[in-house]
Parts: sequence; structure tokens; C-alpha cells
Amino acid sequence: MFSYRHAFHAGNHADVLKHFIQVQLHKYMNQKDTAYTYIDTHAGAGVYALDSAQAVRSGEYIDGIGRLWGRDDLPPALAEYVDLVGKLNPSGKLRWYPGSPWVADAEARLEDRLRLFEMHPADIRVLAENVRKLEAHHAEQGERARGRRILVEHADGFHGLKALLPPPSRRALVLIDPPYEVKLDYKHVRDALDEALKRFPAGMYAVWYPVLQRMESRQFADRLKRLPAKEWLHVTLSVAGPRADGNGLHSSGMFILNPPYTLEATLRETMPYLVQVLGQDSGATFRIEKGTQVTGTVPALGGPRKPVGNARRASPLSGGGSLRLPGQPFGDDPRPRKEGEGAEGRPRTPRTEAKPAPRGPAKRSGSGRS
Ligand SMILES: C[S@@+](CC[C@H](N)C(=O)[O-])C[C@H]1O[C@@H](n2cnc3c(N)ncnc32)[C@H](O)[C@@H]1O
Repeated sequence: MFSYRHAFHAGNHADVLKHFIQVQLHKYMNQKDTAYTYIDTHAGAGVYALDSAQAVRSGEYIDGIGRLWGRDDLPPALAEYVDLVGKLNPSGKLRWYPGSPWVADAEARLEDRLRLFEMHPADIRVLAENVRKLEAHHAEQGERARGRRILVEHADGFHGLKALLPPPSRRALVLIDPPYEVKLDYKHVRDALDEALKRFPAGMYAVWYPVLQRMESRQFADRLKRLPAKEWLHVTLSVAGPRADGNGLHSSGMFILNPPYTLEATLRETMPYLVQVLGQDSGATFRIEKGTQVTGTVPALGGPRKPVGNARRASPLSGGGSLRLPGQPFGDDPRPRKEGEGAEGRPRTPRTEAKPAPRGPAKRSGSGRS
């Protein structure tokens, strides 16, 4: 059951997508003074050594954060994310990679609350130790929160989420990032969100998932679109086309319920760059979709009033709940491309090697390096 270890995958293209978006979600939450609760249902180990046996063996980070590291032409959202990674690597050598709890700690304010769940018996120990060091570091800096700012629980994050909603401040950012090793994870995510939206409809919920050939993955986003959230935003990043043997993870997605209204523009600005720099072949592409729930009732026209319920207002083009934005590539859309369409998401230049560049001084040197 516990064969998945994120240490093999830390900093890969899927982490880049997830964590640069996570940074943006925190920045949006930080715009209001009221404190919020960050809930990480599947927290992992917190921080990862990129020279560990696992990371070296897979080498996945080299084609993820490795390709962004040291670049001086990053779009703003990626610059913010790479800066955050840079704070863990003050020497300028890419050695440590922040997991989602680390991203949350760096972005959330002292008054915000972090609630982290992890089930793996080894990773929970590493996470707890990393958080202990992080809190000691905050205390050294004179940064003292009222009450426990970070709580780590060795528990099932799907159940933990339920118990924490609604949060005391009525503001929450939730990241759901299971391993999807078992098909049931797809169902568990959907069910957990369904329940979470009942308990706390105003929460912001972000789900990472692998885009795979298996049916559960292909149908996943459409299932999430039917959840009773007011709005959703869905982005996928493919760094390569599917391989004939079906092996390898080349595509992943982030599905955000109740997203910041600013996020779509940020994604449109950022994703072409990611495709260009992380793209490995001509199958590299991105896709952005969004949708809105229409609530209320349809005025009766000579008949009984009909509830609209979960009907979606999304695309005037598709009418099916998903909007292909102007200038966006077709991605896995099988329709033939017209002249001039779909070029935006393709790699425009061959792979560029990242140049190491000196990083700024560390604000948190020494923290969490176990
Ligand atoms: C993809 S990793 C998380 C990575 C982390 N969110 C990040 O971005 O740095 C998924 C983690 O979920 C853990 N896990 C699996 N099932 C779980 C469950 N039901 N509740 C909590 N954690 C679980 C795994 O042990 C693994 O560490």
C-alpha cells in the first residue's frame, strides 16, 4: 500500500506545475487580512534532498525544476516559485526541493494555519522532524504564532479534511495530492470534494492528478466539473506526447475549484513558457479550461419552473462545460487544427539547458535539512 515515495519525483515537471500554482493560490489568499487554514491532505515529507539516492536514481528533477533553475527570462509566476526554491538553496547550487508543506510555510503568514496529513510511516517521521526544525527556525527569528501554526497528523487526509471543515476563520485553501497508485484515489478525491463543498462551499480546493491513459484518469476532470462548486479552472501540462508503451508520466493537471479570478490570466501568461522550456518533444502542450456553475431556476415559460442545478455555463463553443480559450493549443483535442491555431502550446525552441545563477541570501538557511 505504501510503495509511493515522493522523493523519487520531487521537483519533476508535475511538481513544477503544482507548486508554481500553489504559490499563486497562497498569494491570492494573502490579499485579505483574515487568516486562513491551509489543508494538505497528502503532505509527503515536506522537503527533499535532490542528491538523495532516490532523486539521483530517477533524475526527474533535472527535467523539471532543473530546467528553470538559473534562467533569467522567467515569467513572473515562475520567478516567484523559483525564488522560493532559491531560498532553500542559498549557495546557488540546486540541492533541496520544497514540497507542498514547505511552499505553504513560505507563503502563508504567521496568523494562518497549516494542517498537514501524511500516511506513510517513514515520510510522516521525516515530515514531523522537518516541521520541528522549521518551527525552531521561526522561533529563532522571533516569529511566534499564537497557538499551533503547523499541525502534522499521521492520518488519512481524506478523513482529516472532512473534520477540519468549515475552518474557524471561514477561509481555507486545500491541496489534494494523492499518489493515485490505486484507482480508488480518483473516487476518494471526488467524494472528498463533494463532502467538503457541502461543509464549506466557499473553500478554495486544488487537486493535482496524473493525465494517463487509464479510464479513471481520462474521466477524472469531467467528474470534477460536475461537482457543485461555483467555478472551476483546469490546466494540464504535457511535456511530451504519449509513448507507445504507455510508460512514464508526461502529463499532469491541476483542477481548482473556486479559483482566484486572477489565475486564468496568470496561467495564460505562464504555460506557453513552461511548454517551451520543459517540452521534450513535439507532443508538449498545455490546455486551460474553465467553467461556471449556473444556479437558481429557469423562469417558467408556460410550464412548471425547472431547477437548473448543476448545469454549467462554460463555453459558447463547446456547450459541454469546457472552454478552449482563444489562441490555446488543442492538446489532446482530436479535431483537425486550422491554419494558425494551436501553435501557442508547442515548444518553439529546442531544449535549453538551465544556466546556474547565484541566488539571493537565504532567509531560512539550515531549516529542515534532515
Ligand atoms: C504525491 S505525494 C505528496 C506530495 C506533496 N503534496 C508535495 O507536493 O510535496 C502523496 C503522499 O500521500 C501519502 N498518502 C497516501 N495516501 C494517503 C492518505 N490517504 N492520507 C494521507 N497521505 C496519504 C503518500 O505516502 C505520499 O507521501
